Amino acid sequence: GQGSADVFVVFGITGDLARVMTFRSLYRLERRGLLQCPIVGVAVDDWTVDQLVERARVSIEGTGEVIDAAVFGRFAARLSYVQGDFGDAATYGRIAEAIKGADSPVFYLEVPPFLFGTVVKGLARAGLTATGRVVVEKPFGSDRASARALAEELHQFLDESQLYRIDHYLGKMGLEEILYLRFANTMLEPIWNRNYVECVQITMAEDFGVEDRGHFYDPVGALRDVVVNHLMQVVSAAAMEPPSGGDPQTIKDSQVALFRSVSEADPIHYVRGQYEGYRSINGVAADSTTETYAALRLDIDNWRWSGVPFFIRTGKKLPVTQTELRLVFKHPPRLGFNFGSDRRPEPNQIVIKLDPSTGVRLTVEALRADTVGPGAIGLDMEFADEGGEGPTPYEVLLQAAMVGKHTRFTRQDAIEETWRIMQPLLDAPPPVHSYTPGSWGPAAADELTSDYTGWHRPWAAS
Ligand code: BG6
Repeated sequence: GQGSADVFVVFGITGDLARVMTFRSLYRLERRGLLQCPIVGVAVDDWTVDQLVERARVSIEGTGEVIDAAVFGRFAARLSYVQGDFGDAATYGRIAEAIKGADSPVFYLEVPPFLFGTVVKGLARAGLTATGRVVVEKPFGSDRASARALAEELHQFLDESQLYRIDHYLGKMGLEEILYLRFANTMLEPIWNRNYVECVQITMAEDFGVEDRGHFYDPVGALRDVVVNHLMQVVSAAAMEPPSGGDPQTIKDSQVALFRSVSEADPIHYVRGQYEGYRSINGVAADSTTETYAALRLDIDNWRWSGVPFFIRTGKKLPVTQTELRLVFKHPPRLGFNFGSDRRPEPNQIVIKLDPSTGVRLTVEALRADTVGPGAIGLDMEFADEGGEGPTPYEVLLQAAMVGKHTRFTRQDAIEETWRIMQPLLDAPPPVHSYTPGSWGPAAADELTSDYTGWHRPWAAS
């Protein structure tokens, strides 16, 4: 089963992720002519196919998508439904019946991680895993030991090559942009290292809160929710050596080589924050110490990066929604010829924006107009202005799963490396500071970067 999916089976199709993400993504793939196979939903609820189709329609509309009747008709015609308990062998018998004849089935597990093993075992016992692929949602483990145990459980029934772990950042254009810009530009690659770079800052700011996800979020927190996975993808794109091929093995090998050079994070350089009001969210413990904000420093001990701190921060209820990678270059010297000003030029910066749209900005010093005087100017390019709306990350990932494109998914050794890096922060978390919604998080985080030009306001907010 290395060919394209001949059936796509969604476990947990009556759940929340399907409602907010999956139906719309599949519908949009249909619209683009990229959906080629039947879709079988599996869940414990006693639904008819008509109910499923109706749920799909309401879900897609609920995301703001305007439904095209013909496209939706084609999409709806693909849907069927298998009712069953995931722990019951008979469920897998019904699935086998529903997908009879398929030899490249793709099973998408939109179920809580504690059920991954149950479902995979059920599939294996029904003889359905011999040629199939299995896609699992995050989180993959909650620390290094549990990530390893989960992999061992799944590897009893599946080869690593059959396992597709989702990190939706791998479906983002901006992540590929980082790697492309770095290595496709003669004027960038030679300066992308410790000889010229003072520090690297990665910011993932969100202006919204935890909202209705308290039950999910409270046992998890920012470090596990987005740092160990999404932001480590950004770190690797920003810091790894160029892969010498586009196949998954070569790309993942480069990534893992980079992760191996990242030292274990030091809790001394870790600041946790929680926004005021978080504890009154439904599903959040009244005395919760879960972080909704995390700022930390990583050090990479290799020839390219030794001595260059990588600062990472993320938070809910910050002033803007923006994810960016920022390189701050070394400070130029004071200039002897001052054109009437003794101002010291500011360090150059390069910013690659991943969200809410992609773009790149170079900050350079210039004299500008006579009447303005020297200063830092931003040379910007917003890519969205050029190409129009592209596919969303989930469309990219689901399609990649259907055609077996493993580069879009994470590999077990990389997962274990990122947990290794974060493990000291999980073992000895510093106390959590509270912060005001709409602020830039706890003031304590400023100390992390104070010797390295401070935190820079994201492009959208500056
Ligand atoms: C998810 C996290 O994985 O990523 C959310 O669970 C977070 O808490 C989201 O808001 C951010 O992703 P994006 O692509 O919408 O910025």
